[in-house]
Amino acid sequence: MAGHDVAEYDYDEVPAENIGQGNDRARPIPRISIQCFCETPQMAEALQQAAEDRRLTKAHVSIHMGGISAAVAHYQESPTPNLIIVESRLPRHQLLGELDRLAECCDAGTKVIVAGHTNDVILYRELLKRGVSEYLIVPTTPLGVMESISNLYNDPDSDPVGHVMSFIGAKGGVGSSTICHNVAWTLSEALSSNVIIADLDLAFGTTGLDFNQDPVQGIAEALASPERLDEVLLDRLLTKCSEKLSIFAAPVVLDREYDLSADACDMVLDVARQNVPHVIVDLPHLWTAWSKRTLLQSDEVVITAMPDLANLRNAKNVLDLLKGSRKNDNPPHLVLNMMGMPKRPEISVREFEQALGIDALAVIEFDAESFGQASNNGQMIEEMNAKAKAAPIFRDIAMALAHRKEVRVEKKSGLAPFLEKLKLKR
Ligand SMILES: Nc1ncnc2c1ncn2[C@@H]1O[C@H](COP(=O)(O)OP(=O)(O)O)[C@@H](O)[C@H]1O
Ligand SMILES: [Mg+2]
Repeated sequence: MAGHDVAEYDYDEVPAENIGQGNDRARPIPRISIQCFCETPQMAEALQQAAEDRRLTKAHVSIHMGGISAAVAHYQESPTPNLIIVESRLPRHQLLGELDRLAECCDAGTKVIVAGHTNDVILYRELLKRGVSEYLIVPTTPLGVMESISNLYNDPDSDPVGHVMSFIGAKGGVGSSTICHNVAWTLSEALSSNVIIADLDLAFGTTGLDFNQDPVQGIAEALASPERLDEVLLDRLLTKCSEKLSIFAAPVVLDREYDLSADACDMVLDVARQNVPHVIVDLPHLWTAWSKRTLLQSDEVVITAMPDLANLRNAKNVLDLLKGSRKNDNPPHLVLNMMGMPKRPEISVREFEQALGIDALAVIEFDAESFGQASNNGQMIEEMNAKAKAAPIFRDIAMALAHRKEVRVEKKSGLAPFLEKLKLKR
C-alpha cells in the first residue's frame, strides 16, 4: 500500500547511545566465530579492518558479500557461528521479512547484529523484539563494529576488563622502568584505582627494589603455569605495596633461564586485567616474540628515550612498527628522559619530535639527586619529595594514559601568564 510506504521513511531516530559510535569502549573479543554478510564495500572494509585489529586476534572472522539473502542460502547448508553480522539496505518491512527467513535457519545461541542504512527507531525496536542483539548504522567505523561486538561479549558487571599499558625503553637504562613505576604509583594514588605492575624483566627487574619489597613469589610462577592462574592464585602471587597498588614482581635470580612464551604472557596479563582496571607492564629493552606481542596487544604504549641518535633511531623503529600494525589505536606515547644532562651533547626536543612525527607526551630533566635518592630509599619520586620537578610530570602522564583530565592546583607566580604565552608560541 502506498500509505504504508510513506510511513516507512517517516521515522524517529535511534538514540545515540544505542548506535555503535566507535570509541575506546571496544574491548578484546573472546575466542568466538563471526560471519559477516555485507551489501556495500564500505561495510566490508570496516569489518575487514576490525578483523585485523588486535582486539579481535582471538576471534575467527569471515566476510562475505550478498547481504541477508546470501546468509540465508549459506545457513541452509551449514551450522551458524556464534555471531552473524548482516548488512541490509532494504526498507523496514522487507528487511524484517528477510530476517525472519534468517531466523528460521539460525541455531539456538547464535547472536545477530544488523547493519542498516536508516536511523529508524521503529525498525530498531522491531529488531530487538526479534532477538537481534544490536543495530549498527552504516557507515560505521572499525571501532564502531568492535564496540558493538564487545558490548555483546564483555559484560561490564561480571567481566571487568582493565586497560593494559606497556612501557619500553628505546635503549637500556633510559629510565623506562623508573617512569613506569612512578606513573603506576601516581595512577593508583590520584585515581584511587587498583593497579598491578607486571615486571616482565624477569632476570633484572627493579620493581621489587623500587618499592622496597622482597617478594618470594611473583610473575615467574604465573608464567610457568599460566593455565592455573585464577583470582585466588593471582592474589597469592601479588605483593601489595599500598592499598591500591600491587606488584607482580620478577624473581631476579639467575639460576634459571627465562625463555618466555608469547601465549603465557598473554594469558597472565589477561587474568590480571580481569581483576584490576589498570595493568602496567614494565618491559625490558628486548625484541622477542613475547615482548612484541605484548606491545601490539596493549591499550597504550609508552616509549621512553634519551636524546641521542641511537635512541632516536630505535624509538622511530618501534613507533613505525606499532603505528603500522595498530591502525585503530592511538600512536604510542613518547617520553624524553634525562634531558639537560651536564656536558652531554643532545638532540633537542623539537628535533626529536620532528624526526618521529609525534609530540612528546612528557619531557623529564636529568635530576641525579632526586632519582638517585628515591631509588636508594625504595620510594617513588613524589613520596620522597612532592616538590621534585618530575612529580607533576608523572601525574600528567598518568592522567593522559587514563584519558582523565586533572585540574592541577598550582601557585601561579606573577610571571605565569607571560610564561603561558611563551609556551603557546613555541
Ligand atoms: N630523569 C632522570 N634523572 C636522573 N636519573 C634517572 C632519571 N630517570 C631515571 N634515572 C635513573 O636511571 C637509572 C636507570 O633507570 P631504569 O628505570 O632502570 O632504566 P630502564 O628501565 O630504561 O633500563 C636508574 O638508576 C634511575 O634512577
Ligand atoms: Mg627496565
